[in-house]
Amino acid sequence: MAKKTVRDIDVKGKKVLIRVDFNVPLKDGQISDENRIVQALPTIEYVLSHGGRAIVFSHLGRVKDESDKASNSLRVVATRLSELLNQNVIFVPETRGQALEQAINTLKDGEVLMFENTRFEDLNGKKESKNDPELGKYWASLGDVFVNDAFGTAHRDAASNVGIASNIKDTVAGFLLEKEINFIGGTLENPERPFIAILGGAKVSDKIEVIKNLLKVADKVLIGGGMAYTFFKAQGMEIGNSLLEADKLDLANELLALANGKIVLGDDVITAKAFDPESEKHVRNVTDIPADEMGMDIGPRTIALFESYIATAKTVVWNGPLGVFEFPRFAEGTRSVAQALTEIKDHATTIIGGGDSAAAVIQFGMADGFTHISTGGGASLEYLEGKLLPGIECVDDK
Ligand code: 3PG
Repeated sequence: MAKKTVRDIDVKGKKVLIRVDFNVPLKDGQISDENRIVQALPTIEYVLSHGGRAIVFSHLGRVKDESDKASNSLRVVATRLSELLNQNVIFVPETRGQALEQAINTLKDGEVLMFENTRFEDLNGKKESKNDPELGKYWASLGDVFVNDAFGTAHRDAASNVGIASNIKDTVAGFLLEKEINFIGGTLENPERPFIAILGGAKVSDKIEVIKNLLKVADKVLIGGGMAYTFFKAQGMEIGNSLLEADKLDLANELLALANGKIVLGDDVITAKAFDPESEKHVRNVTDIPADEMGMDIGPRTIALFESYIATAKTVVWNGPLGVFEFPRFAEGTRSVAQALTEIKDHATTIIGGGDSAAAVIQFGMADGFTHISTGGGASLEYLEGKLLPGIECVDDK
């Protein structure tokens, strides 16, 4: 069912509550990746240029006790938002109370206010993260309409998304949420074929439901990364010191049987003796991994095989790196696949499903080479699993 978006409501003169996901990584108090802020700008700018009063809020990190507050304040994010919008952002270091209410009630059309980390409320017994009904009701009372643009938080049932939506007349999607629904949701529903899924990452256990769901819709599921070794072992190969989830061997075999030839694992790998950026690398057949080595990347034949599937694909969804891309020596598989995807961008839809693979393509300087890089981590994964996400479900249907 299509969802209403901010285009479907009149925001002029309204107090517009905008839930964004500004849960950005901070290093020494500075934002180290501002992609989530940049991706939220179109919605905020739309509200401002249409005469709305933007009340922007987000969670940041996890707030378990008072000492977590200082390192999880959104003040630094509000400053960056102000620079990116090229206008003043009034930052209110509160999540409730008179100062916040007064600041909101004196906000003028075209102005922006941002309030403090919604998860500070986790300490007040009201529990943002537990969707405390009083808290959602209170935040809803601060605005006239609600725009949810926090895709990264869509898998959470929180007071600041679902709670507000249950207590306000209009809940609509922002442009980022709309884009994520169209690209990820739309692809799963009706992909142009051939549709290739590429899955990597360390653990099979993290990806079981994604693999099962993608096997239903994709034409091929290419698997690399740490989790491939549990599949190799399940097929009777010796994998040396490579990552293994011994309790998932039966499951790996079940998935291979279910896949009926759709899963592609490749037949060579890059190994090393130690998990170390300087460790010497070796190209090995998967049937020939020495007992004292571990798999660190996909091998050259596997890269070429994956590239051949990518070259003819019309839709590709990729989640999870194919090797230890953080170490340049073992980044070749992940980099080559990213490069191959950038080469089909003109005639295919290429979607990076968030998390580490998004970090990898940003690190390679290739971020512009894809149709869509999801801003979700856990949310993208759960969406790819085929789950209904509370943060999407709570938006009004068209
Ligand atoms: C994320 O970064 O995945 C979202 O912002 C959700 O954060 P959380 O895992 O702390 O709920």
